[in-house]
Amino acid sequence: MTRLGVNIDHIATLRNARGEFHPNPLKAARLAIKYGADSITIHLREDRRHITDRDLFNIRKIKKIPINLEMATTSEMLNIALKYKPNFVCIVPEKRKEITTEGGLDLHRNKKKLIKILKKLNKKKIRTSLFINPNISDVILSKNLGAKCVELHTGKIANKIKKKQRYLNELNKIKKCAKKATINGLEVHVGHGIDYKTAKILKKIYEIKEFNIGHFIIGESIFNGFKTTIKKFIQIIR
Ligand code: PXP
Repeated sequence: MTRLGVNIDHIATLRNARGEFHPNPLKAARLAIKYGADSITIHLREDRRHITDRDLFNIRKIKKIPINLEMATTSEMLNIALKYKPNFVCIVPEKRKEITTEGGLDLHRNKKKLIKILKKLNKKKIRTSLFINPNISDVILSKNLGAKCVELHTGKIANKIKKKQRYLNELNKIKKCAKKATINGLEVHVGHGIDYKTAKILKKIYEIKEFNIGHFIIGESIFNGFKTTIKKFIQIIR
């Protein structure tokens, strides 16, 4: 069954805007699971602009909340992952000034670091994933570096769909990568910029096993509620 991961970074963004405690990411994590999400995604950034170490600690205490920790390729993050042992780790590129993750990892540039990080996380039985742009060479390299899953960056297709531009080329790329990854024993996930329409289109790619969605869920919840929004995504992707 295709799974839904709910990214709650933006709950923390909203909380941090006031420097107080509301809305509480832990409450959002509990509710997302209650409403049917399969996991919670949190990105602990180097600058801690949204999720904090305390959030990770609080959510990790609740064993029935499967955590997908997004992290950069730094030794600080590796140590945090080894300490808190989230269920899953998705390694992402990170630039201080970006508003959000702008693209997939540069696997070639980070080869050595990735091999080391993946090896350590795999050894601890943490499911590992690399956030990559949808291209075949990155899929193959992900396998060779030791990842167990790939998360294909869907920002480009999502943007095209939103702007009502032609998206079939991008969809084909994602399809080919999903097939190649599956043949090579990698589980396929997708994430970034996904709204209802993009989810409906991507859903047709059978090999996709997990959707990780954040910004649209939190934004849409303002109008229709967290529960309704999560349930609608579950209905679309399954
Ligand atoms: N997956 C990854 C690896 C991401 O970096 C992000 C953005 O933080 C998402 C999924 C969720 O993207 P969005 O918030 O646009 O749904």
